[in-house]
Amino acid sequence: MRSFSGRDILSLKDFEREEFFRIFEIADELAPIARDRQNTDLLKDKTLVTAFYQPSTRTRLAHEAAMLRLGGAVTGFADAKMTRAGDFYQESIKDTVKMLEYYGDVLVMRHFQQGAPHEAAKWASIPVINAGDGWGEHPTQVLTDLYTILKEKGTLDGLTFLCVGDFRMRTMHSMAYAISQFDIKMIAVHPEDMSIQPEMMEDLQRYNLKWEEAGDVRDVIDQADVIYMEPVVQPDYTKSRQEATGDKGLTPPQFQVTRELLADKAKGDSIILHSLPRQDELPSDVDITRHSRYWEEAFNGVVMRMALLALILGATE
Ligand code: CP
Repeated sequence: MRSFSGRDILSLKDFEREEFFRIFEIADELAPIARDRQNTDLLKDKTLVTAFYQPSTRTRLAHEAAMLRLGGAVTGFADAKMTRAGDFYQESIKDTVKMLEYYGDVLVMRHFQQGAPHEAAKWASIPVINAGDGWGEHPTQVLTDLYTILKEKGTLDGLTFLCVGDFRMRTMHSMAYAISQFDIKMIAVHPEDMSIQPEMMEDLQRYNLKWEEAGDVRDVIDQADVIYMEPVVQPDYTKSRQEATGDKGLTPPQFQVTRELLADKAKGDSIILHSLPRQDELPSDVDITRHSRYWEEAFNGVVMRMALLALILGATE
């Protein structure tokens, strides 16, 4: 297995099965620190730099919370408009990163351009973590998702994932690459104009991905062990920011998971994950059902980033 020390986390493509389990193992070791709401000094001499060119609630703050739990420091920006990259100068990723690498020991970047963190990694002498790049990938979110599923189900192999939503979405891409390493069947349900890019689908076939398509969540929900959701009412992820203007539209019922549908058709022990934020595809009255696990994901999101930071910064092998 490759060492994580000093490694960039840009994609889950070519992530090996043992590497997933190594991260999950470290997450298990570190989880009690977060559960007890304590901080340690494992990374006391290290600093995390965040460079967020797109809005975020969970990903940036979970990385920061993880670093603080491990005794490290954090610095960075949450809005590129307040930097020279977002004003008159439109400073390039190269020029920005050639500065940021001296401000800390690991860089977490979210960007509206697909491949921007990869470009940053080319120039940075410190490890770069992709926190979401355009429609590209969102590796740390999907590591959190899989860790949550493993904790809840006790296994990843042998499960059927029903993935519902916009398949142009970066989480769906990372999820597809990740599940190729497990005996997982994916059933994909998405609007016609929100399918996965054909070239990515072709690439995924190299990994013997078990993939089926369906048109309506109501026809297939009875097969699902895991229901993984994304909105279909989405902003354009290639933009730095998109304000809500006027009527955003409603989610058609074939892409919605409601409390009634779960009661009528879902397996009793199926679980629902959502990377959030949500729209009306997942009504809030689902939250109190036995199926919801997205709040557990919030906790696991911190633990997962603790594990990644500890591994990448060499605090553990
Ligand atoms: N799931 C996720 O990426 O959330 P944020 O956009 O709030 O970071």
